[in-house]
Amino acid sequence: MKDKVAGYLGEIAAVRIDSHEALEAYRLKYLSRKGVVQQLFAEFKTVAPEQRREMGVLLNELKEKAQERFDALKEALERSAQPSGPATDFSRPAIQHPLGSRHPIAIVRNQVDEIFTRLGFVVSEGPEIEDDWHNFSALNFAPEHPARDMQDTFFIHRDPEVLLRTHTSSVQVRVMSSQAPPIRTISPGRVFRNEAISARAHVIFHQVEGLYIDKGVSFADLRQTLLYFAREMFGEETRIRLRPSYFPFTEPSAEMDISCSCKGAGCRICKYTGWVEILGCGMVDPAVLANCGIDPEVYSGYAFGMGIERMTLVKYNVNDLRLFFENDIRFLRQFTGVS
Ligand code: PHE
Repeated sequence: MKDKVAGYLGEIAAVRIDSHEALEAYRLKYLSRKGVVQQLFAEFKTVAPEQRREMGVLLNELKEKAQERFDALKEALERSAQPSGPATDFSRPAIQHPLGSRHPIAIVRNQVDEIFTRLGFVVSEGPEIEDDWHNFSALNFAPEHPARDMQDTFFIHRDPEVLLRTHTSSVQVRVMSSQAPPIRTISPGRVFRNEAISARAHVIFHQVEGLYIDKGVSFADLRQTLLYFAREMFGEETRIRLRPSYFPFTEPSAEMDISCSCKGAGCRICKYTGWVEILGCGMVDPAVLANCGIDPEVYSGYAFGMGIERMTLVKYNVNDLRLFFENDIRFLRQFTGVS
């Protein structure tokens, strides 16, 4: 029996397996209920008493070794079942993270903000729901004046009048009423007008208005500032043209055109005129300064207001203003990477 055990010990140490079946065969042969180890323990009963001690130690050693070998074989088999290379395949294409884009209106608004803050203007904002005073009366719109019809809006309440602002000039009234000159501010924001929706008009659009109040501000300052802006925004070779106009809150007033990118060759954007209107401007009417508590004998200033949609149409060659509000991903995607 001693020899048998020694033989098995040698055998166990030499076992090699390469499959689960072989591992199972090993288990059956040595460790199962009818396996070698159990059989030897059964035979142990027949061992002569004086050899029992020695044989007991030997049998227990065999039992332990058989189990240890089994564990080792099993672990080796499992390890070899794993892929031999690195678990990550670095040659596979990376998972794409979809890149969003800014809305074109936000892009152009940011560009305008950036140009004017460089000139020392600060950004100010105000409410979209306004009262008559800030949107109209303080800006010199007389109660029955036809200028109000040009900026027909949506009235939320009649008496007192609460409305959706038609321009961000209302913010300028708020700034002038609460701050002392010198004032240099731009007011970007959403505005509302009662218009029939078409490729060129919408009930919602965006403006950036500007205001500069100080001692001795002149129309020449206004013109030079707007020329600088136009060149920064639309390119170095851009020219501007000021046409006399009317706004209740500025005197004199003008509308500003920029030279079209078709350079006069004629295109749909400039309607074959070579010029595109982008903003209204003028010297702040002394009555408006007085309404806001600023002495018109001491201070003067200029104001301007531009439509962001209009500038975006021109700058990025968009042909229908409604696209800005439809959230069509095929349109918006075209602005990926523009800032
Ligand atoms: N508020 C005017 C508009 O919305 C634009 C404007 C602003 C004109 C400032 C002159 C001066 O039409």
